[in-house]
Amino acid sequence: MWKAVVTAAVAFALLLCQSSSLDNGLARTPPMGWLAWERFRCNVDCVDDPYNCISERLFMQMADRLAEDGWKELGYNYINIDDCWMSMDRDEQGNLYANKTRFPNGIKKLADYVHSKGLKLGIYLDFGTHTCGGYPGSIKYLQKDAETIAGWGIDMLKMDGCYANVSDMSWGYPDMEMYMNKTGRPILFSCSWPAYAGGIKVDYSVLGKHCNAWRNYDDIQDSWDSVTHIIDWFGDNQDVLAPAAGPGHWNDPDMLIVGDYSLSYEESKAQMAMWAILAAPLFMSNDLRSISPEARTILMNKEVIRISQDSLGMQGRRVIKGEDKIEVWTRELDVTFLPSYGIAFLNRRADGEPFNYTLTLGDLHFQYMMGYAVEDVFTGREYGHYDLYRELTVSINPNGVVLLYAYPSK
Ligand code: GLA
Repeated sequence: MWKAVVTAAVAFALLLCQSSSLDNGLARTPPMGWLAWERFRCNVDCVDDPYNCISERLFMQMADRLAEDGWKELGYNYINIDDCWMSMDRDEQGNLYANKTRFPNGIKKLADYVHSKGLKLGIYLDFGTHTCGGYPGSIKYLQKDAETIAGWGIDMLKMDGCYANVSDMSWGYPDMEMYMNKTGRPILFSCSWPAYAGGIKVDYSVLGKHCNAWRNYDDIQDSWDSVTHIIDWFGDNQDVLAPAAGPGHWNDPDMLIVGDYSLSYEESKAQMAMWAILAAPLFMSNDLRSISPEARTILMNKEVIRISQDSLGMQGRRVIKGEDKIEVWTRELDVTFLPSYGIAFLNRRADGEPFNYTLTLGDLHFQYMMGYAVEDVFTGREYGHYDLYRELTVSINPNGVVLLYAYPSK
């Protein structure tokens, strides 16, 4: 009987989430794919660096890799252009168009190519007078630009907020959403609004009505410092951020940098695990043409992706932040008759040896008296059965993570 009550309560909660969110049916789970910015930046030098410059060739090659190397099947299905794709001026009718040297066939042809691979194409605009890289902005052309990208067959828009007044964003982003809806083409809308409005000084219930995802905070850079800086901010502000996330509308801590230059193997696993716990969009920004087998294995881990893509869409929270520099984060997952959980133990110590950490599931406020079966997501190791009082010990490598999955069991 009470199982039926719990199920009904969950269904009602999901209905509430749905009715308050952007109604384009997209991003019911955090979107996944590849985004050019962190790794390829604004490299427009196709003369001396043709292999890495922002050009149709780069996106076609990455689309090939997504489609042929197993990424697409795991859910990585968006391929996203970022800044520096445009011509420096609009045409005589005020339309945007791509740089003709680097995108000789134009964006529509590129979208056709991407679609022929079973993928979706994302693009970048800026709400202000210019993009962050100095290319034409959209503030006076919202409707025109919405129609242009829909006409090209674009599937996702990241709208940045450089060179704009924050006060204008509260009409600008909703207007853009309205104009995109009017085109009739479903376009996943990623809004950078909160990142420019101080992160938590925005009304997230309004954002959820107009945007499918939003960048909240600083740009990620290729360093562990940057990753942990973002994780700290999400933890410190979780009471505002976590309730804002749900099916159709997600906080975005920025791209995955796994496979780039800086992160160690442990740090790479940690970023992947934490992004899954945070219900974050999973946009890799790396070179899929030469990615290492280790990075590939981490990014392709089906069990981590399963946590990321959990249908409840609840963002995880930092439950313990100890003086021993171990943090414990939990994310509530699908409800069969009671919630199961992802648990991330994040080791912020760098003192050279694995750290043994002990707690009980009761310490994490789990409720089911009969207890939980616990297994390691990365290794598949089964820890066994834990009631709320049995001590559980994990060994966490420096700058590393242990990610567990715990589900109710007798
Ligand atoms: C801003 C954004 C980045 C990227 C650059 C492009 O910094 O936050 O993600 O899009 O602009 O110029």
